[in-house]
Amino acid sequence: MNWKKLRIAVLTILVLCLIPATRYYQIDLPLLRFLQGSRRVNPLSLHLSGEFVENNLGTELQSDGSVIVRMIAEQYLFVPHCIVVPEGIPVHLRITSADAVHSLALSGTDYNVKVLPGIISEARLQFANPGEYKTKCGEFCGAGHYAMRSEFKVVPLDRFPALRAGGRATCDVQ
Ligand code: CUA
Repeated sequence: MNWKKLRIAVLTILVLCLIPATRYYQIDLPLLRFLQGSRRVNPLSLHLSGEFVENNLGTELQSDGSVIVRMIAEQYLFVPHCIVVPEGIPVHLRITSADAVHSLALSGTDYNVKVLPGIISEARLQFANPGEYKTKCGEFCGAGHYAMRSEFKVVPLDRFPALRAGGRATCDVQ
């Protein structure tokens, strides 16, 4: 048995395993897209057709009373820039990227949602208290990364705009 060869082989396998384990979303993006099946989305046509067209973004009231928020992350902004949600109600976030890997990190909370091009990231958020939660991009995405900011406005339930199911709330309705 050639121990040197074996050692090199083991090391190589180890390194190959470690790369995807730490940066899987960059290296294995095509594989991840394949595995994610139903959560795939074409990053090139986000604004043109499908779930993430302009007038479908933001906060929407569902018929069961829950709230869904759709956003796009792109270099170097979040669309929409300001999101209004009611306190104490589960918020179902659906977000995708138009270009690079980003993440939506909400200050003052543990929420940090990785956002990948080609995949819809989902998260369940709930805010116990009203207030303004600044968000920032938590994943280095290029020259404008540090300016990539937005905000979640959490309002008391009685100040949340009266909406019919399917209606949308924006920050300027306040
Ligand atoms: Cu987007 Cu950093």
